[in-house]
Amino acid sequence: GEKVSEKLVECSDPNRDFPCPPSLKVPIVDFKPESTVKRIRRPVHLLDKEYQDKYKKAIRKMKDLEPSNPLSFAAQAAIHESYCDGHYRYDPTEKNRPFDVHFSWIFAPWHRMYIYFYEKALGDLVGDDTFALPYWNWDSPEGMGIPAIFKDPNDDNPLYDPNRDMTHRDALIDLDYLHADKSVGPIPFVKTPATAAAYDAAVNKNLATIYQQQIRGGRGPRAFLGEKLCSEASFRVKEINERSKRRQNGKQIKTDSSQSQGTLERMAHTAVHVWVGRQKPKTGCTLADGVLGHDGQPHCAYDMGFLGTAGRDPLFYSHHSNVDRMWHLWSTKLGNEGFTDTEWLDASFVFYDNYKEPRLVRIKFRDVLDARNLGYTYDAESEASLPWINSKP
Ligand code: C2O
Repeated sequence: GEKVSEKLVECSDPNRDFPCPPSLKVPIVDFKPESTVKRIRRPVHLLDKEYQDKYKKAIRKMKDLEPSNPLSFAAQAAIHESYCDGHYRYDPTEKNRPFDVHFSWIFAPWHRMYIYFYEKALGDLVGDDTFALPYWNWDSPEGMGIPAIFKDPNDDNPLYDPNRDMTHRDALIDLDYLHADKSVGPIPFVKTPATAAAYDAAVNKNLATIYQQQIRGGRGPRAFLGEKLCSEASFRVKEINERSKRRQNGKQIKTDSSQSQGTLERMAHTAVHVWVGRQKPKTGCTLADGVLGHDGQPHCAYDMGFLGTAGRDPLFYSHHSNVDRMWHLWSTKLGNEGFTDTEWLDASFVFYDNYKEPRLVRIKFRDVLDARNLGYTYDAESEASLPWINSKP
């Protein structure tokens, strides 16, 4: 409901080796819509050298801020972590449930807000208020691999992260990776005569996945954006997971942690996380190797591969810029409308703004339904020729 983030119990957890985001006692101001659209988000793989350098410089500066600064890269990653890994408890009187910005209708608007303030901070850091967060264009064949500027390990590249699955470094992405046959190795991103048939089939399959996510399976806000927070479906997820854990000896039980997620969150978004992140074999995984999840178990996945740590990889934010673009296209080009419940429209969160003199901005879901209110949009060129628009499976 309203002012969700102010009702949450303060972040704290002595069992963790990473900090909670800074909680500064600073004034809270209400969000004011931006008056002009001055930031145009473009595909990462099409950035010119100058823009690439600006992106790197901005991230470098953000990484150089003190972690106690809420606009530092470390603090930004911790914000995501705390909102998805049980640092906060929702409604402590009622079962002390962990609060999460995933698995419900909060997913799309919360992440839009989060990367909006991140983008603005990057612009501030390089003194350019037209700086727009480039997006990883994984819905287009030219973007179906990790963008080159994120892969370069040299020269202290601030966009590089060693905690990725290196077998996917130069591979073609699988946007349906969760259902993929993992015994078949990845197809190289660069097409050759020898791989042409497999490559074409994989690209077409990716395009069909996006068609399914955006069009065929994404009709209506519940299907696309997810179920209401605290809906029966969102609680069922936990019960199913617990039940399947109990029965794991012997029989294979299919778990479904996805029923409360919309296609926007459940499909390409999740596949990209798991495909990029570094995983360790489940057996023998200890806390020293991984992170503690809110199920109380150590998770031996790193950075993008686990929601709790995903924000530590700079690629996360360009990934989410494209997830956000998928929502934008769904609402604009594809003509869909979000929820009309005031419970959703008036839900609000607070985010830090202004790295020089941090303050908190309270922003409502209704403020972010139209990207123009946030002063950004996506490039018209890629919208004019969406490669998946007719990719009926
Ligand atoms: Cu908050 Cu892609 O996750």
